Amino acid sequence: MPFYHRLGSVPHKRHTVFPKEGGGMYYEHLMGNLGFTGLQSLLYHVRRPTIVLETKCLGEIRWAPDPDATLRMRHFFTHRLPPAGPDAATDRLPLLFNSDVAVSLARPSAPLGAFYRNAQGDEIVYVAEGGGVLESQFGELPFRKGDYVVIPRGIVHRWRLAPVGQIFLVIESEGYVRTPRRYRNAHGQLLEHSPFCERDIRVPGALPVHDETGEFPVLVKKGNALHRVVLGHHPFDVVGWDGCYYPWAFNIEDFEPITGRVHQPPPVHQTFESEGFVICSYVPRLYDYHPLSVPAPYNHSNVASDEMLYYCNEEFMSRKGIEYGSVTLHPDGLPHGPQPGKAEESVGKTATNELAVMVDTFAPLTVATAALPGEDGSYGRSWVEP
Ligand SMILES: [Fe+2]
Repeated sequence: MPFYHRLGSVPHKRHTVFPKEGGGMYYEHLMGNLGFTGLQSLLYHVRRPTIVLETKCLGEIRWAPDPDATLRMRHFFTHRLPPAGPDAATDRLPLLFNSDVAVSLARPSAPLGAFYRNAQGDEIVYVAEGGGVLESQFGELPFRKGDYVVIPRGIVHRWRLAPVGQIFLVIESEGYVRTPRRYRNAHGQLLEHSPFCERDIRVPGALPVHDETGEFPVLVKKGNALHRVVLGHHPFDVVGWDGCYYPWAFNIEDFEPITGRVHQPPPVHQTFESEGFVICSYVPRLYDYHPLSVPAPYNHSNVASDEMLYYCNEEFMSRKGIEYGSVTLHPDGLPHGPQPGKAEESVGKTATNELAVMVDTFAPLTVATAALPGEDGSYGRSWVEP
């Protein structure tokens, strides 16, 4: 997130000696994106971050595509699918993907996950259920239900889970995730018409220093493979850092909906942007207030765009037959809109409690075979009048 933050101890000037009490000096480490021209932070480690005892490739991460590419509307009951495994970072059930974005579902149960670094993409983890603490080199970031936890690539982290049920919608991005450009001024600050501002964004707080040596395996995702990289010390040995590159969280309840006299289009719900896709938040809000307004969306052809929706509760103004955890895919090539009766039903209503996360992509999405056992095969005909 492009605002400056400092945690722990850092020397007065960057790139100068930062002495340890017992002798020696702390090891400076710059982490940032876009080759020294993007967001970056400077971290100060107890030990060299470059100490690697051994590395091993554990195997390719392969997302098998649905062999049936027939153009049709799709609907998956994702919460009916079995959990992929206990770890929040490495046990994820693939749902939809293209070369820009990959969406999966995690239902982790391990109280403490593996040390993990995604070295090929940024992650946005929407916490549909659960809570706990994201531990990282940048400190501890508590998270709760409704949070988008944004983890820029390259940051070693692990998930510490509270003893409650956890459901994460994981969005991995090839490009750098950021807030929508039109909501930022030339200095990067969020503007008054933005549906959220810096005050709504939470950053790491406590910075416990783990001064421990030994063998510490970190699982690294790189080149669509998982690698085991063994460090000679605890990865969270940072005594201080400052800069603009770090994990952060934003809760969907802090998204202030933009409403109007007549129906507002999907861009008003936009929360994040990246290369090749956007993420939108549909939150509880008052409906349109023109006396003759139709609050449900009009039918539309999403030309050159595929639309994925994850329903965070059972209400959605334009949909029938969905449940909490449903994922719908409306591909380019077929117009979509409210199901029969839903537009009429919306007239005169004053508010909605819908809660959903939308991923709109510019390149087509592929369905992963792992999602197929949860498919509602009747969805494509749900617009047919009885
Ligand atoms: Fe749509």
